[in-house]
Amino acid sequence: MKAIKVGILGLGTVGGGTALVLQRNANEISRRVGRPVHVTMASVRSLDSQRLCDCSQLTLTQDPFEIVNAPDIDIVVELIGGDTVAKDLVLKAIENKKHVVTANKALIALHGNEIFAAAEAKNVSVSYESAVAGGISIIKAIREGLAGNKIELLAGIINGTGNFILTEMRDKGRTFDDVLVEAQELGYAEADPTFDVEGIDAAHKLTILAAIAFGTPLQFDKVYTEGISKLSLIDVGYAEELGYRIKHLGIAKASDDGLELRVHPTLIPEKRLIANVDGVMNAVLVKGDAVGNTMHYGAGAGAEPTASAVVADILDIVRTIDAPTSCRVPHLGFQPAEIKDRPVKTVEQFESAYYLRFDVSDIAGVMSKLSSQFADQNISIEGIAQKEPVAGQDFVSVIFITQRTNEGQLDRAIASIEAMDEVRADAIKIRVEHFN
Ligand code: HSE
Repeated sequence: MKAIKVGILGLGTVGGGTALVLQRNANEISRRVGRPVHVTMASVRSLDSQRLCDCSQLTLTQDPFEIVNAPDIDIVVELIGGDTVAKDLVLKAIENKKHVVTANKALIALHGNEIFAAAEAKNVSVSYESAVAGGISIIKAIREGLAGNKIELLAGIINGTGNFILTEMRDKGRTFDDVLVEAQELGYAEADPTFDVEGIDAAHKLTILAAIAFGTPLQFDKVYTEGISKLSLIDVGYAEELGYRIKHLGIAKASDDGLELRVHPTLIPEKRLIANVDGVMNAVLVKGDAVGNTMHYGAGAGAEPTASAVVADILDIVRTIDAPTSCRVPHLGFQPAEIKDRPVKTVEQFESAYYLRFDVSDIAGVMSKLSSQFADQNISIEGIAQKEPVAGQDFVSVIFITQRTNEGQLDRAIASIEAMDEVRADAIKIRVEHFN
């Protein structure tokens, strides 16, 4: 059968890794899809940089539009990133009736609704497995493997950089800034590392996972997003003493009254599997009504793990390259006409347990004054710990773990406590999830 020709936009870490995997595993690949798959063109920023792959059989260009307009390219692989030029390139490729594979989570989270509609109109596919959790194949797991389920909950460590930082802080007592510099040097972080540490990258990924789990449109603007940049070593340590680990999670929950879409640091009991996912590794817990809890674990970033998903997407496209759209898995896993909006809860409507730290004057009666504010809001306390005063400080830290409660009520209790003369600083509030 005729060879399939692939053009790669961006031959950096993931692009080079993709070409390398296609070259190295060419035999396995043609055995799987019944025809050879060749990378014949790639766009690059500089023509004489070092590459991960063999470029001797490739036409290199500095103009990515040359690839999306090339008549003999069957599949365009977009690995440039960002949501401006990348969007123009993807829409142009679709207009030219080329199938597209992309690892670009920002592009899909922000413009996926428009891009998928354009692709369906032109009878081509846009595949994006590598956009979430690198090599784990979580899109395929939810969209196809768990398609018989009503998905109730997703909770994932979906940013490797953040997880690397939290792991190093906990294990080695290193500061946030120190670890971030190392994550950048190791190539884990986004071009703009605030995307990693402020939760934007995780929110892009959660947007995609929630849409395919619940059959809703992609709605990045409705994700509540909190980063890890304000987390202190003090709370990482106190959480550990209380039997919890702090992880930066993307959580999507469905209930009859709406969806919760949230990215934030979360205390998790240390015995839970997801609490033990360390370093740059990613993991996603998916709960379906039929299957119960499933856990998906693997490398979330890096050249070859991400290339693994890109190549799998290419092969999926090759298998149905001449078939009508109706023969392919829909882009979001649901028939486009069945994608339905659902109400998304605001922060005040969230339900969770909470870790709270108050720094208070070390005088008699303070603890009972604090406790009474929770009672006034009908909030039950699971546990209380008072830490020894640190030498040189004239206050003590008091930690509360609440039972599950409504966040709006909790915030009212916190506001009353913060107004007390004995309270010396704003409260620290971190959500707690047990995933029972
Ligand atoms: N910066 C991302 C991360 C890369 O750290 O997870 C993979 O999407």
